[in-house]
Amino acid sequence: MASAMNHSADAASQPVHFTWPARYSDLPKEVFHRSDIYRLELERIFYGPEWHPVAHAAELPNPGDFKTFQIAETPILILRGDDDRVRVFVNSCTHRGTQIETRSRGHAVEFECPYHRWLFNNRGELMACPGRERFPAEFNKQDYGLRELRSDQFKGLIFATMGRDALDLDSYLGGAKPYLATILGGDGRLKLLGYQKTSFATNWKEYNDNEGYHAPLLHRAFRLLRWQGGTGTFFVTERGHMAMEAELRDSANSEFLNDPSIVEFKDRRVEPRSTITALFPMTVIVKHCDVINVRFGFPRSPAEVEIHYAYFSHQDDDEAMLRHRLRQSSNLLGPSGLISLEDGAVFNRLHRGDAAPGTVSYQKGVLSYDEPPAYAFQQNDEAGNLRKWEYYIKIMGFTRAAPGRSA
Ligand code: FES
Ligand SMILES: [Fe+2]
Repeated sequence: MASAMNHSADAASQPVHFTWPARYSDLPKEVFHRSDIYRLELERIFYGPEWHPVAHAAELPNPGDFKTFQIAETPILILRGDDDRVRVFVNSCTHRGTQIETRSRGHAVEFECPYHRWLFNNRGELMACPGRERFPAEFNKQDYGLRELRSDQFKGLIFATMGRDALDLDSYLGGAKPYLATILGGDGRLKLLGYQKTSFATNWKEYNDNEGYHAPLLHRAFRLLRWQGGTGTFFVTERGHMAMEAELRDSANSEFLNDPSIVEFKDRRVEPRSTITALFPMTVIVKHCDVINVRFGFPRSPAEVEIHYAYFSHQDDDEAMLRHRLRQSSNLLGPSGLISLEDGAVFNRLHRGDAAPGTVSYQKGVLSYDEPPAYAFQQNDEAGNLRKWEYYIKIMGFTRAAPGRSA
C-alpha cells in the first residue's frame, strides 16, 4: 500500500510525499479519498496551468448574456459584454468577496452586489460604490473591476485557466483538436438545446475513469450500438487528453426497441460513428449518433462531482433534424440516458469500494505491468486511462516505487 508522510489539512502549499505503486497498471485507492491529496489537486490541476471548458458560445449568444459555473470550488461568471466580447471572471465581489451572481444563466446590463451595492457593468468594470467619500484618497475604481481569468475559444468552446503559466490553448489541446472540431459540428456554429444537471457521489477521478471496456458490459442498452465488436481506435496526448473515433453500427432494425429511431444516425454529413474527447482533467465531449454533448464538470469535494450535460444542435439543422437531436439527446445520454444511466450508481459503488486499503488494477489493453503505457489503444480498452494517470503523477509530483518493491 502507498505510504504518506503528510496528512495535515493545511498541506496544500507543501508537497504531499506520496509513493506510487511500482506497477504501471496499478493505482492506490487512497488518492480517491484523501483530503490532503484533493487540496493539492486544486492547487496543481484545477487552479494550476490546465485549461477548463466553462461554456460554449452558443450558451451566451447575445451581448449581455451570462452563465455561472465553477472551476473546482471557485465560482466563475462568463459574460458576453455589450462590446460582444466574452470574458471569464471570478464570481466574487472585489470589495469583501460576496458572490455576485447566483442564477445559472441570464441576461444583464449590470451586476449589483447585494452586500454594499457595488455596481459592475457587463464588461466587469466597477461603475459605482456607495459611501465613496469616506474611502481612502488612494481608492481608484479601476483597480476594483471583477478579477478576469485568462480565456480563449476553440470552435466556440470557451476555456479558462487560473494558472499563470498555461500554454496557449492550441498547443494545450494538441492532437485532440480535429476530434473536438468534428464533435462541435466542424465549425462550432451550435445552438443550445438544453441541459441535464446532476451530481455524483464520487471522486472526480473515479468519474473520469469511465472507459470503453465497461460501456457494453455495465450499460446493457449500449449493446444497441454494437460497441463491443467495434474496431475504432483512440490515443492519449502527452497532457492526458483522450481522443477517440469509435465504430458504431446503425441499429435501425434493432429487435430491442419498438421505436428504433432513438438510436438512428440521421445526419449523413458525417460517418455513423462516435467521436469522443475526454480533456484533462475532467471534461468529456462526445458525439454519439446525432447527439452533440459537452459534459461540463467540477469537483465539489473529494467525494462529489457536479456535471452539467449540455446538448446542442447545429445552426444549419432544419426543424426535423433539430427535433431528432432534441429527442435523442434527452433519451440516449445523460444521468437518465438509455445507454448511460447506470454510471451514477457504479461511480458511487466505486467510491465506497475504494475506501478499502490497497490498490486497483487495469488489465484490458495493458501490454505489460512493468512498462509505461502506450499512447494508442483499441476502442474497448481501459488501458488508455493509465496514460492519463502518468500525466497526473507527473504534475502532482509523485514518484513511483522501485520495481519489485511495494510502495
Ligand atoms: S461585498 Fe460586494 S459590495 Fe461589499
Ligand atoms: Fe459509462
